[in-house]
Amino acid sequence: MKTIVSVILAAGQGKRMKSTLPKVLHPVAGKPMIFYSLALAKSLGINKRIIVLGHQLENIKETVDSIDQEVHLVPQKNQLGTAQAMQEVVPYLTDFSGTILILSADVPLLSATTVKRIIDYHQKERVAGTILTAKLANPAGYGRIIRDGVGKIAEIVEQADLTEEQQNIDEINSGIYCFHSKELFQALALVKKNNRQKEYYLTDVIKILLKKGYTIGSITIDDPTEIIGINDQKTLSQVSQIIYERNALRHMEEGVTIVSPGNSFIEEQVEIGKGTIIYPFTVITSGSRIGQGCRIGPYAHIVESNIGNETVIFSSQVEKSRIGNNTVIGPFAHLRPDNIIGDKVKIGNYVEVKKTIIGQGTKVGHLAYLGDAILGKKVNIGAGTITCNFDGIRKNQTTVEDGAFIGTNNSLVAPVVIGKDAYTAAGSTITENVPAGSLGIARARQQNIIDWVAKKKKQHEEVDKK
Ligand code: UD1
Ligand code: CA
Repeated sequence: MKTIVSVILAAGQGKRMKSTLPKVLHPVAGKPMIFYSLALAKSLGINKRIIVLGHQLENIKETVDSIDQEVHLVPQKNQLGTAQAMQEVVPYLTDFSGTILILSADVPLLSATTVKRIIDYHQKERVAGTILTAKLANPAGYGRIIRDGVGKIAEIVEQADLTEEQQNIDEINSGIYCFHSKELFQALALVKKNNRQKEYYLTDVIKILLKKGYTIGSITIDDPTEIIGINDQKTLSQVSQIIYERNALRHMEEGVTIVSPGNSFIEEQVEIGKGTIIYPFTVITSGSRIGQGCRIGPYAHIVESNIGNETVIFSSQVEKSRIGNNTVIGPFAHLRPDNIIGDKVKIGNYVEVKKTIIGQGTKVGHLAYLGDAILGKKVNIGAGTITCNFDGIRKNQTTVEDGAFIGTNNSLVAPVVIGKDAYTAAGSTITENVPAGSLGIARARQQNIIDWVAKKKKQHEEVDKK
């Protein structure tokens, strides 16, 4: 697509969101709103891509760069309206002649199929501009399409400027258009801000072009959910929910059991194997892969992790970790990033694990912290075991070899190695390596003072008598 450029309008503050976060950074089904239009433009194979940024430009720029490094950034200093935003783009396209596709950063559900339809129509019909429209049961908040007696588009009137009668018009402007560059640039120069909002409306170019004798075409979309524009928090949550439900449906079609789709939050780009059950209040983020026959949730938060088959994750947080088959995690475990957990492992209640490798069949049943550790196969970690991995300057490694048994309430002061099949006694503070097959015991010996209680009592009585 050589003779086309795409422009995403994203400079507005989003006042109606009533939030300190810029509108386009609000998460929509886990991804910043801006992600969707950037990904769409890229997926269309358009080489020259532009985004107009203004409000909190610096904050948004970082996110934009992480999604599309090649998109060209055009600043809009004062956000005086969508026409003025397009005016800022003009100097960057002085040598360009062709189609300008205009997308809005707050319309995240728009599909590539629909955009291709409007581009095809626009280029075949050789019109000056093409508008994507939709008929909505509740058109409030959108610009309305005004058609003449024979059904031809006459103009677009913004919500704030509607007459009483026009309020009932159910055909709305999606804010997605194609224009021919030359005609658009001519018309933009003529837009005035004589309207209720005192803004330069891009929608006014329609009237201007028609007056100059150009033709304006339109495509009316069948599925109006696609063009929902997010202006407030209510619509933001509706759109997220649409995406989550759509994703849930797709997984159910592939043989995943989702107990309550409305209460499961599976982001895009997640793989889940057949026969896996997802219990309510589970969040699974993009890039996660879950095998077959697993039970996930209730209350599981899986962040970019890879989980094997037949594994169970109850009420736990799993971040950027790899977990094997037939393993049980939780309830109430926290796997921080960079763990590699083997098969048939058990990580139980109130266990925190970070940057740790755990071998097959190892058990960490309760109340433990493992950080920067390597545990072999069939290791048993007693309740209350802490790896003392941080010496204030650097992180040190704890190694527990195959078959070792760590007693309850141990402090393993790293760097330290517990050898194969070794034991450590309960309550030990292990500061030195324990050789294979040995017992490490590092605690004060118990001493019993016989009749201590009676003697103490007697002492008190004597003091009281005085
Ligand atoms: C706009 C359309 C309206 C349409 C609706 C569809 C205009 C005047 N109105 O209204 O007809 O029904 O979209 O969703 O265009 N922006 C800038 N610079 C600015 C102002 C806005 O870049 O100075 C960006 C915003 O960040 C946003 C997009 O343009 O991504 C649309 O702006 P917004 O204020 O949301 O327009 P709407 O009132 O929704
Ligand atoms: Ca909008």
